[in-house]
Amino acid sequence: MKEMVGHFRSIYAKLFVFYNKIIKGHCKFWIFQSFNGLATGSLISFLMAMICAYLYLFPLFQPVIKEYEIPKASSSVGKCNVFEGRWIQDESYPLYNSSLCPFAERGFNCLANGRKDSGYTKWRWKPKNCDILRFNVQEMLEKLRGKRVVFVGDSLSRTQWESMICMLMTGVEDKKSVYEINGHKITKRIRFLGVRFSSYNISVDFYRSVFLVQPGPVPKRAPKRVKSTLKLDKLDDISKEWIDADVLIFNSGHWWTRTKLFEMGCYFQVNGSLKLGMPTNTAFRAALDTWASWVETMVDTNRTSIFFRTFESSHWSGRNRNSCKVTRRPSSGTKGRDHSPISDIIINVVKKMAAPVTVLHVTPMGAFRSDAHVGTWSDNPLVPDCSHWCLPGVPDTWNEVLFSHLWSTNGTSLQ
Ligand SMILES: *[C@@H]1O[C@H](CO)[C@@H](O)[C@H](O)[C@H]1NC(C)=O
Ligand SMILES: *[C@@H]1O[C@H](CO)[C@@H](O)[C@H](O)[C@H]1NC(C)=O
Ligand SMILES: *[C@@H]1O[C@H](CO)[C@@H](O)[C@H](O)[C@H]1NC(C)=O
Ligand SMILES: *[C@@H]1O[C@H](CO)[C@@H](O)[C@H](O)[C@H]1NC(C)=O
Ligand SMILES: *[C@@H]1O[C@H](CO)[C@@H](O)[C@H](O)[C@H]1NC(C)=O
Repeated sequence: MKEMVGHFRSIYAKLFVFYNKIIKGHCKFWIFQSFNGLATGSLISFLMAMICAYLYLFPLFQPVIKEYEIPKASSSVGKCNVFEGRWIQDESYPLYNSSLCPFAERGFNCLANGRKDSGYTKWRWKPKNCDILRFNVQEMLEKLRGKRVVFVGDSLSRTQWESMICMLMTGVEDKKSVYEINGHKITKRIRFLGVRFSSYNISVDFYRSVFLVQPGPVPKRAPKRVKSTLKLDKLDDISKEWIDADVLIFNSGHWWTRTKLFEMGCYFQVNGSLKLGMPTNTAFRAALDTWASWVETMVDTNRTSIFFRTFESSHWSGRNRNSCKVTRRPSSGTKGRDHSPISDIIINVVKKMAAPVTVLHVTPMGAFRSDAHVGTWSDNPLVPDCSHWCLPGVPDTWNEVLFSHLWSTNGTSLQ
């Protein structure tokens, strides 16, 4: 849940660095005054310095209006691009009740955590030129009988994993026949969770691998600031566990930030050599290339359907992008949130692959859902969260699209 707070921390860090610079530099005058003056003087100087800092940093927060190639989703169901559409109200939603699903973690169960308005659970995604197949739990359970579904990624992958289990469990009478194979509880850092639907012989697994590539040691003679590394050319060593899945769903992106990497002393390595100056986006691209060649050499794509989910829109607002106001209804516009450099990289890497991989381009649909984030209705109301989603909610739609895709190919991709 703290995964994405990082970005905002980095802005704070910048602000403070700059504040310190100001104290030593341009804004010395105000500070000087404050030394001679009263406490209020120092408060004013602080405020002036903050304003100064803000004006300096503000350009960073201007929406990037540079020419943007609008990524066309590389996936569609039939002739229709399912990722282009709108949300319409539908009283037949939600698809399940989180309080009756033991695999919906408490932190995402907004209604149980005090959210009063439930209107946000009653929206259906309507693609522009077609419909997503309506989720039919009995058909889906039969379709998945004897199959293994594997989610790999960060906490947003865990949310989709929980959502899928809850959706499928509505069709299972004996809830005790669905269990985590090691008896583990869902926690934020757990590396593996495996849920079995024993009467259908279905496995729905989650592997936490936020970068998808392997952590590495610190090379000899590395600068002191290097505390750990990421080997961009080696896929995560638990990847061998993913190979024999029937359906594989990946995500990554939220951890590829300066705060989660450089500020934690983590730098990149390629082929054994340290790449101190490599920007995070370049590194993400390199990691995805590693992932792509792993898919092409290790996965039997005749058996396994592979998906990669794009960046899941967040809705932080305010001048420092650290305020989280969950609305009652979806927003009418996307305010640029339907684009993400991370999503562009994913789409471009997949486009170049020979293996069939479906991009679940969820960035645009999520961009409208300012009403569907966890907000303060999480397990820690003191830390508002405009990154993760309530369950039931938006991640259910990702699964509906996924099922719809598997369905529309007449099941052949599941064989
Ligand atoms: C979900 O189930 C709980 C427990 O039975 C119940 O109290 C609650 O009203 C249900 N919520 C909805 C939205 O139906
Ligand atoms: C259950 O599914 C696995 C594949 O996931 C298969 O190898 C096994 O034979 C199945 N078992 C039964 C009892 O159908
Ligand atoms: C990796 O390093 C080895 C020597 O350490 C070198 O022989 C090889 O060409 C390098 N590979 C790439 C892709 O740079
Ligand atoms: C996948 O199927 C195609 C056509 O049926 C076949 O030519 C190919 O060898 C298969 N690939 C693998 C890895 O089994
Ligand atoms: C798809 O399914 C329909 C009915 O479910 C069947 O008639 C048709 O032959 C199937 N097509 C393929 C390509 O399997």
